[in-house]
Amino acid sequence: MFGIYLHIPFCEKACNYCDFHFSTSFKVKNQLLDCINKELEIRNHELLGDVKTIYFGGGTPSVLSKNELVSILNQIKKNYSIANDVEITFECNPEDLSEKKLNELKESGVNRLSIGIQSFDNSVLKWMNRAHTANKAIACIDLAQKIGFKNISIDLIYGVPLFLNRNWKSDIEKAIQLNVQHISSYNLTKEKHTSLHNDVSKGKYLMPNQEVCSDQYQQLIENLAKSGFNQYEVSNFSLKGFESKHNSSYWSSIAYLGIGPSAHSYDGENIRRWNVSNNKKYIEGLVDNVDYFERETLAKFEMANEIILLGLRSDLGVSLKKIKSLLNDNQYQDFNKQVDLFKKKDLIKQNKNKLLVDSKSRILADYIARELFILPE
Ligand SMILES: C[S@@+](CC[C@H](N)C(=O)[O-])C[C@H]1O[C@@H](n2cnc3c(N)ncnc32)[C@H](O)[C@@H]1O
Ligand code: SF4
Repeated sequence: MFGIYLHIPFCEKACNYCDFHFSTSFKVKNQLLDCINKELEIRNHELLGDVKTIYFGGGTPSVLSKNELVSILNQIKKNYSIANDVEITFECNPEDLSEKKLNELKESGVNRLSIGIQSFDNSVLKWMNRAHTANKAIACIDLAQKIGFKNISIDLIYGVPLFLNRNWKSDIEKAIQLNVQHISSYNLTKEKHTSLHNDVSKGKYLMPNQEVCSDQYQQLIENLAKSGFNQYEVSNFSLKGFESKHNSSYWSSIAYLGIGPSAHSYDGENIRRWNVSNNKKYIEGLVDNVDYFERETLAKFEMANEIILLGLRSDLGVSLKKIKSLLNDNQYQDFNKQVDLFKKKDLIKQNKNKLLVDSKSRILADYIARELFILPE
């Protein structure tokens, strides 16, 4: 059992905060999609079992035409065995979601939409350089629901600069009113090589401090909990039964195949690989049969550290049995000593064989994980 992630590296506009791999030039789109289909074929022997999840991420998958999407899905069907209950997620930008587009997605077999709304405040959207308005975002969700999508996720960003006077509480309320099944919400980060980074470096405005971001995060958690959303990961909230199967498999060390430029793959054990984050080099690699990826083999302590980090961030927790199997006696003893300190502070709970950070402390999950990290011997 494994998942397939496909990276579609094109966007109509560059958002001011985004450093994911994408290009606003579509010149090589046809060639690149041919290479995605080629990569799907040449890697069809790598992972065994059924494909449980397919995730189109980006960039902006909703720039694909119906023919382009169907050609990728057909290539997957031709080369892999697909589970009957496969989850097929498609990341979309609201401006692409016309009635025609949504019908095409439904007909093609997409059964989960992940829509990047970010904010319901038009001045914030304009500042981010998003191509949609708040009304367009609300209207496309309504349309998607009428067309029959029953598993919709939206993305929201909090922690935007204070000069924007964004009313975060009102944005959370609007998100809840949409009756979607899943909400992902991320703290705005200032990534290098973005216009946000450039503006802050020049002193045009400041990023909000940690206290402001934590307050907004707590508001999010409290309001979503009141409306029946379970926080099953630091940034992810869902109604019961609507957790993202694809992302949950990342957090529980299930294998995945990453196809397309910048996509990462994991064999479910100790090998990670990542494709080059450059459209031209990716195409050259596949056309000329030269390497277009790098690979690393994780040492056992590194595997343990990944399990700790991902497990503490989510409801799935950290399996002590798994950690023990990866460490020697000294390392496991040191790890347990640290765990005890956090248990005393009520920041870690143990449920049978699992370590967990509960929802109220989850903002600290990354910090706790780093404190528990195993060092090389
Ligand atoms: C890379 S985008 C791809 C999906 C789609 N193109 C979109 O914009 O919605 C996935 C999500 O990452 C989040 N994101 C990207 N860069 C971020 C940043 N610097 N800080 C916080 N969230 C970010 C946004 O919420 C976005 O919806
Ligand atoms: S947030 Fe989405 S639309 Fe904006 S640049 Fe990043 S990938 Fe493209």
